[in-house]
Amino acid sequence: MSNLPDSRTAIVTGAASQRGIGRRVAERLAGLGWNLAIIDLDGGAAADTASALAERFGVCAAGWGADVTDQAAVVKAIDDAEKSLPPIVGLANLAGISSPTPYLDLTLEEWRRQIDVNLTGVHIVTQRAARSMVSHGVGRIVSISSISAQRGGGTFSKTPYSAAKSGLIGFTRSIARELGHFGITANTISPGPIDTDIMGGQLTEERKQSFISEQIIKRVGTPTDVAEATSFLMSDGAGFITGQNLNVNGGQYMS
Ligand SMILES: NC(=O)c1ccc[n+]([C@@H]2O[C@H](COP(=O)([O-])OP(=O)(O)OC[C@H]3O[C@@H](n4cnc5c(N)ncnc54)[C@H](O)[C@@H]3O)[C@@H](O)[C@H]2O)c1
Repeated sequence: MSNLPDSRTAIVTGAASQRGIGRRVAERLAGLGWNLAIIDLDGGAAADTASALAERFGVCAAGWGADVTDQAAVVKAIDDAEKSLPPIVGLANLAGISSPTPYLDLTLEEWRRQIDVNLTGVHIVTQRAARSMVSHGVGRIVSISSISAQRGGGTFSKTPYSAAKSGLIGFTRSIARELGHFGITANTISPGPIDTDIMGGQLTEERKQSFISEQIIKRVGTPTDVAEATSFLMSDGAGFITGQNLNVNGGQYMS
């Protein structure tokens, strides 16, 4: 069994948003001793997040501005990270965008952007990161899908988001199979609605109540709920879990 090295780096995409899940995942991982390579569209915020977490947790961290759909930019960022940080053996794919447009009003442009960011972007980052993990003989990949993939929308985001997030589950099962013999695990997490700004800004009390009414656990999901699940799947102890989808949804959907 391959163990994660004591000195190790995780790439976290989409960790620049102050109230976002990615930021909380990066915090949790840094708290557990992971060094961080943060990749986000917003390069300034990625760098600020990295330096704040480096100072707070005493780890090495750096941020890069890159669109996850731009393969050259992603490869350059991870090449740089590889030169300046300890071995890259973790990846948390958080970068994502929402799409509230009803299906009959959807343009082809919006469809393509959803699939590009939420699915192809994950592939681009994962493929480059997996090449590093293969060289170290161990790795943990976690990608954030959504309850929307399982229920057929029914949340803020609609059809192309749901299609991309469903694609992520199939993508993850397939790479789990292909990469397992290199000591790499790959899993998805499917959160229910989480209190961030991705659903068009801060959630109103009314929206929170409508989410809660469908759940068994009577509170709104938080970035911490997803960060705890992500850090578990990235731990040494989760080395026998691969190709799985973990629901973090307060019991809103069971499978
Ligand atoms: N919030 C929820 O209710 C919820 C539920 C299920 C799944 N998710 C998923 O969790 C992930 C994080 O969501 P969040 O709520 O924290 O969103 P958020 O909007 O707060 O953060 C998303 C982050 O991704 C970055 N990003 C967007 N497009 C990018 C691109 N092309 N390249 C690089 N970075 C990019 C943004 O700059 C931002 O920092 C997303 O994949 C989302 O689909 C969220």
